[in-house]
Amino acid sequence: MELYSLILAAGEGKRMKSKIAKPLQPAAGKALVEWVLDAAEGAGIKRNVVIIGHKAEDMKDYLKDRVQYAYQYEQLGTGHAVMQGMTAISEEEGTVVVLSGDSPLMTAETLRTCIKVHEEEGCAATVITTVVDDPFGYGRIVRKEGEICRIVEQKDTNEEEKQICEINSGMYCFDLKKLHSALKRLTNENAQGEYYITDVIEILLGDGEKVGTYQTALEETLGVNDKVQLAAVDAILNRRLVKQAMLEGVTVVDPATTRIGAGVKIGCDTVIQPNTILEGKTVIGEDCEIGPNTRLTNCVIGNNTEVAFSVGIESKIGDRTHVGPFAYLRPNTVVGDEIKVGDFVELKNATIGNGTKIAHLTYVGDAQVGERVNFGCGTVVVNYDGVHKHKTIIEDDCFIGCNSNLVSPVTIKKGAYTAAGSTITDMVPEGALAIARSRQVNKESWTGKKRKQKED
Ligand code: UD1
Ligand code: CA
Repeated sequence: MELYSLILAAGEGKRMKSKIAKPLQPAAGKALVEWVLDAAEGAGIKRNVVIIGHKAEDMKDYLKDRVQYAYQYEQLGTGHAVMQGMTAISEEEGTVVVLSGDSPLMTAETLRTCIKVHEEEGCAATVITTVVDDPFGYGRIVRKEGEICRIVEQKDTNEEEKQICEINSGMYCFDLKKLHSALKRLTNENAQGEYYITDVIEILLGDGEKVGTYQTALEETLGVNDKVQLAAVDAILNRRLVKQAMLEGVTVVDPATTRIGAGVKIGCDTVIQPNTILEGKTVIGEDCEIGPNTRLTNCVIGNNTEVAFSVGIESKIGDRTHVGPFAYLRPNTVVGDEIKVGDFVELKNATIGNGTKIAHLTYVGDAQVGERVNFGCGTVVVNYDGVHKHKTIIEDDCFIGCNSNLVSPVTIKKGAYTAAGSTITDMVPEGALAIARSRQVNKESWTGKKRKQKED
């Protein structure tokens, strides 16, 4: 049997009060709609149709050719959206799973089981439902003698129906042929003047078809209509990701303050300290200690490395290296093995060779640094002349004296030293000591004379 999903994502999402389309709002490192699509694909659905309308081009830019698209130019309701989606399906028979681009918590496992039950029971429709404490805003599942007889939207409920706590998740499995037939008879005679997909249930039951329900937890069905709910689903997704990491052997000291994005990979026995944010495609090896208070975006870290109280963006750090506290690694930084990058050190577009020490108060930008180099406190690579950025090369075993300025482009050859306080503008030859500062002059008894002048 052909299996399809229709992912409804054409609505404006007014309640978000955002410039970003609701299905593209990020939660735990992915757009809401991507979580939905991942679940559909994970459940074995290969043909996924996303119904787009509001900010349609943004949606296409994000999902590219992973899915088929169907346009809904006017948002006339969820039933109307499904009608548009059906135009992308040419097959006559199969199962159609309707999902909502704003409900990212459904798991592939639950979806797979639900599809199985739906097909085995020979249902025309199976509605995924949840029991909640506060059903306000949701469509309610109305039952007669235990069987579902219809779904009533919040705005169409009577007093009795308002009390029903079993709600419609907005996710369903349908028999393709029967859905087609029911959609033809859908009307918009309701409080909102919209075509409701939920009305299909009553139509199918009227045809004498079998309609089932599949109850699951709220943790899988919560939808996002505003930023309060966005934070709620984000927290649930993050909790799942942190738990997954722990089950894979990562030590998370404080799961509540740890964020591990969906694309992040961490090796076993690495310890994540509190208030740490790992995001993008960050990969961390084994036996590392990351955090506290650290944010790494698209970074690759080796094994046995420590990063504390620091920020890293698109950078690579090798093995047995120590970063922080308070280091800032900007894009294109490659730090090798057994290196120390200490406090208030900023690195940008720089390659740092193994065994080098940059212990404190130093900026290294657009530079290639060799192995076993020692940076004195307060070194500044002067890489920018106000118009262009230039490159600095520091070869192996150099010693950069404290408070040196290295005015780029400049090369410090192998094993050379720069004297503390020097402003280096020219190449320093191999093994040389460069002193580029004025000599010290001592004016004898100067303070005594000064004091006397004041007294007079
Ligand atoms: C819908 C259900 C409700 C259910 C709830 C669960 C209907 C009529 N109601 O209500 O029973 O409890 O979801 O969250 O189906 N969309 C379109 N085109 C449209 C309208 C909506 O693509 O014309 C999309 C939206 O972008 C969104 C999804 O469909 O992703 C759901 O729409 P929304 O307006 O949020 O429906 P609810 O009022 O939440
Ligand atoms: Ca909704």
